[in-house]
Amino acid sequence: MKILVLNGSPHLNGATSDMVKAFTTGAQEAGHEVVAFHVAHMNIRGCMACDSCRSREKSVCVQKDDMQIIYPEILSSDMIVFASPIYYFTLSAQLQAVIHRTYAVDIPKNVKKVALIMSSGDKYVYGAAITEYFQSIVEYWGVENAGIFTANGKQNKSEEKRAELYQFGRRL
Ligand SMILES: Cc1cc2nc3c(=O)[nH]c(=O)nc-3n(C[C@H](O)[C@H](O)[C@H](O)COP(=O)(O)O)c2cc1C
Repeated sequence: MKILVLNGSPHLNGATSDMVKAFTTGAQEAGHEVVAFHVAHMNIRGCMACDSCRSREKSVCVQKDDMQIIYPEILSSDMIVFASPIYYFTLSAQLQAVIHRTYAVDIPKNVKKVALIMSSGDKYVYGAAITEYFQSIVEYWGVENAGIFTANGKQNKSEEKRAELYQFGRRL
């Protein structure tokens, strides 16, 4: 299976990336191909709502930024993992920009399952992110939710969380 990881944390070695690394190790050991992007370090603008992708050139975004690298990966992956720190009780703006820009491709028919990985300072801060994930991705795309993983406070960068994410990847 080809797995695309969209990591919305600006911290390349932060808590979100720590979980992504453990997941990636497990998934690769299970024989899957993992392609990961640190989208916060890419030039990805928000959707301009010009509707060109729906009216003029179908499924083609007029904004020629780094989403042009991500689009083919979305359209060739069996699974997408969304990973993000919690900022103001939701996903990072950088990951949200990527999600909004999927408007151009609408529902990627190749994607069968998705997962969500989140890191935060506090507990009980995931409601808005989980709502967006379920309503905008899982239900809208009609795909399987393979899992939601969170780490807060001392759980961040812990061996326990690494083991949990490794096992998730290994069992896919
Ligand atoms: C702009 C900003 C907003 C944040 N908002 C929240 C929040 O609403 N709730 C929370 O628990 N943590 C919040 N945090 C803390 C981060 O979610 C936490 O430090 C997380 O572990 C960072 O992950 P990273 O190491 O991958 O960057 C915020 C951090 C920043 C920089």
